[in-house]
Amino acid sequence: MDMLNVEKLSKVYGGKVTYRALTDIDLVVRRGEFVGIMGPSGSGKTTLLNMVATIDSPTSGEVLLKGENPHRMKGSKLALFRRRHLGFVFQDFNLLDTLTIGENIVLPLTLDKKSLEEMEQKLMAVAKKLGIVEILDKRTYEVSGGQAQRAAIARAIIHSPSLLLADEPTGNLDSKSSRSVMETMETINSEDGTTMMMVTHDPLAASYCHRVVFIKDGRLYNEIHRGESRQDFFQQIVDVLSLMGGNAHDLSSVRV
Ligand SMILES: Nc1ncnc2c1ncn2[C@@H]1O[C@H](COP(=O)(O)OP(=O)(O)O)[C@@H](O)[C@H]1O
Ligand SMILES: [Mg+2]
Repeated sequence: MDMLNVEKLSKVYGGKVTYRALTDIDLVVRRGEFVGIMGPSGSGKTTLLNMVATIDSPTSGEVLLKGENPHRMKGSKLALFRRRHLGFVFQDFNLLDTLTIGENIVLPLTLDKKSLEEMEQKLMAVAKKLGIVEILDKRTYEVSGGQAQRAAIARAIIHSPSLLLADEPTGNLDSKSSRSVMETMETINSEDGTTMMMVTHDPLAASYCHRVVFIKDGRLYNEIHRGESRQDFFQQIVDVLSLMGGNAHDLSSVRV
């Protein structure tokens, strides 16, 4: 079974002036796949991710997650479906400053009323995987951006979601931290089999994906698959971006 089926998805934002952000997007993501979504600024990447994440609802079309349409669910059923199946990672980490890193990470489990013992055991497992055991008692402002994003990823995967959704996860990171965050995501994908969908404008981050789907002006533009070499894939991504125009800014100086 496919993990995600997006069918003829369209989004028109309302308000004084309506704006058509997405038109007839079809996308299938298979179990275990790691898919990147790229496109110029304003092309509709976040809109697409937010429809899949059920953060916002489509104007028309369907989102099926494991064959179920969460947009048809309400209240507690939708909340439970999200908690069971989805994990989110954002550009700005979204950690709570009043909690320690460890407390932030176990937050999704406290919502499900898990036992302290189970929480502690899951916390240690995920913290080891992300290499952040030593910062669990720190506050968010005491850790680096790269560590904060690892903590956010830990929080997003602690409940073993079916689908991990990430919107520009390396957007606030320097290139060294970006690289290590992407290596971590690659490991989570390959070892745990977590299906991933990541929006990014960073070709280096995208080069870790199995497949990159490009959108332009709210429509599918192209898609490319990674072969053996991540370096070659990086170059292909850069080539498509420069063909598309838009914000394919100075990529010549980026090292793979
Ligand atoms: N809530 C909103 N209301 C109106 N227009 C929006 C809203 N959110 C996004 N848009 C518009 O939709 C288009 C796509 O936005 P977005 O999905 O955020 O693009 P991207 O993530 O690719 O940069 C942009 O032109 C943006 O201004
Ligand atoms: Mg965006």
